[in-house]
Amino acid sequence: MKVVVTGAEGLLGSDVCKVFAKDGFEVFGLSHAALDVTSIENVTRVLNDIKPEIVIHCAAYTSVDGAEEDFNTACKVNKNGTENVASWCAKNDALIVYISTDYVFYGSRNVRYKPEDTVNPINKYGESKLLGEEVVKTLCKKYYIARTSWLYGQKGNNFVTNLIGVSHSAELRIVNDQKGSPTWTCDVANALVKIIKDNKEFGIYHVCNDGSTTWYGLALKLYDLLGITANLKPCTSEVLHRVAKRPSMSVMDNGGLCRPWDEALAEFVKLYKKN
Ligand SMILES: NC(=O)c1ccc[n+]([C@@H]2O[C@H](COP(=O)([O-])OP(=O)(O)OC[C@H]3O[C@@H](n4cnc5c(N)ncnc54)[C@H](OP(=O)(O)O)[C@@H]3O)[C@@H](O)[C@H]2O)c1
Repeated sequence: MKVVVTGAEGLLGSDVCKVFAKDGFEVFGLSHAALDVTSIENVTRVLNDIKPEIVIHCAAYTSVDGAEEDFNTACKVNKNGTENVASWCAKNDALIVYISTDYVFYGSRNVRYKPEDTVNPINKYGESKLLGEEVVKTLCKKYYIARTSWLYGQKGNNFVTNLIGVSHSAELRIVNDQKGSPTWTCDVANALVKIIKDNKEFGIYHVCNDGSTTWYGLALKLYDLLGITANLKPCTSEVLHRVAKRPSMSVMDNGGLCRPWDEALAEFVKLYKKN
């Protein structure tokens, strides 16, 4: 089965390509240079050429603070780009898997969010991703919206590999008032394979590792697994003066789709140490 992955050189897209190929899918991983989703001509030409049965739409404008200051650009990619991909899929009877985010939730409650819960993004990035969800629901019959959170993996900019790379002697202040589910990109990709192969009902899924922690809790666990002694200090979000607000509790109920976050992190660290 032919699968196109948009944003194939990104943090998630790169592992989606690997995992789907390993599972026997014929994968066409398209980088930003190979497919700019904001160009309808480009999308039409490239997808007409490949004729995929499935498009895993990982391409996105992902700068949370950037979106706060340049909402137009965020929407150009996350809403209009998604519209271009979704309309091709709708016209050609292809399945679209749209990757979305826990940031569609405001994050001010204490209970895990279920897929059917009310959305109310706390920031512009979340708003632009939600507009993408709405486009997919409006245009397509065959769709999965896969909301994920706090991603890390081998490739690209992410909290876990960034922390491995920093100097461990200096004091590191890490946010301890945001709660979420750290999620390994390979676990997302494996869960997507399962959703597709099991022919699960079309709709919204929370595709994240199970359980929750804070960024500080994640850093403590990571260094513990690595056997590194570091000078970590918990801090509040305010201290960092970020442009965009983040939800203080964006933990999602994954319905048993993925294993606990600390198990996934342990496997990631084991692989990381091997390489
Ligand atoms: N990272 C997280 O913690 C997280 C959490 C929740 C949800 N998500 C969602 O997961 C998905 C994947 O994100 P990620 O973390 O893998 O981000 P990423 O590493 O930034 O990957 C996004 C990819 O999209 C590409 N891209 C940007 N604009 C494009 C365009 N106009 N046309 C085609 N490609 C374009 C980027 O290419 P260039 O870099 O070359 O521009 C990049 O390779 C996104 O939908 C994101 O919203 C991520």
